[in-house]
Amino acid sequence: MRVPIVAANWKMHKTAKEAVDYFRRLLELVPGRPGVELVIFPPATLLFLAQKHLEGSPIVWGAQNAYPEPAGAFTGEVSVVQVADLGARYLICGHSERRHIFGEDDELIGRKVRAAMEAGLVPILCVGELLEDRQAGRAWEVVERQLSTALAEVSLTAPERLVIAYEPVWAIGTGVPARPEDAQEMAAAIRGWLAEKFGKAGSSVRIQYGGSVKPENARDFLTLPDIDGALVGGASLDPDKFWTIAQAALG
Ligand code: PGA
Repeated sequence: MRVPIVAANWKMHKTAKEAVDYFRRLLELVPGRPGVELVIFPPATLLFLAQKHLEGSPIVWGAQNAYPEPAGAFTGEVSVVQVADLGARYLICGHSERRHIFGEDDELIGRKVRAAMEAGLVPILCVGELLEDRQAGRAWEVVERQLSTALAEVSLTAPERLVIAYEPVWAIGTGVPARPEDAQEMAAAIRGWLAEKFGKAGSSVRIQYGGSVKPENARDFLTLPDIDGALVGGASLDPDKFWTIAQAALG
């Protein structure tokens, strides 16, 4: 049984007051046993507030990014160990904005995945093709390369130690999601790849879809057989909308 996982990626949004208002509202909405794992990814400045307001609640949280070295002379970076120390549960690795705006490559993303696992965090590894790759029929080739480089030196003993987010780059922040049948086809291919690499543990890893998920289309994705959740950007900034999306995972 794969428990659905629906995550809010706030990206570079919200002040401290807005974050606290959000946590309070979401805690009002979410019952004690929501039946779906809810994860909030605030920017680094607000992680302390997530710790303060969400600890002991059914809502968990994580960091949008962290550096793989535990400590050292890396001005401006926050380490995987530091976010784990604060009580984070998850780390987003290889989000397309990190790849395309900040130039992160699969090798660095792989180091982040391994460092996260060593620090006790669960990486959410984001993979996804550009529009030109899809149009040229290379979508799987691109995703397979992202998976095989980032996970090359990873050994997986339990499925809950890893999450994959399939996020086609052209669907992120555009209002144009993937077609559900394409998302399902890709998720099934990812699951097959994980099963081949990691055996039984791999076949039960949870796979999210991300890219313009909204309350109006959440069910189209969250009811697909190989999709176990969503990574939500824009629509997750409103706690009511985020909870509506999460409920779509309950069937
Ligand atoms: P979006 O972002 O929901 O705003 O398309 C998704 C993401 O970047 O994870």
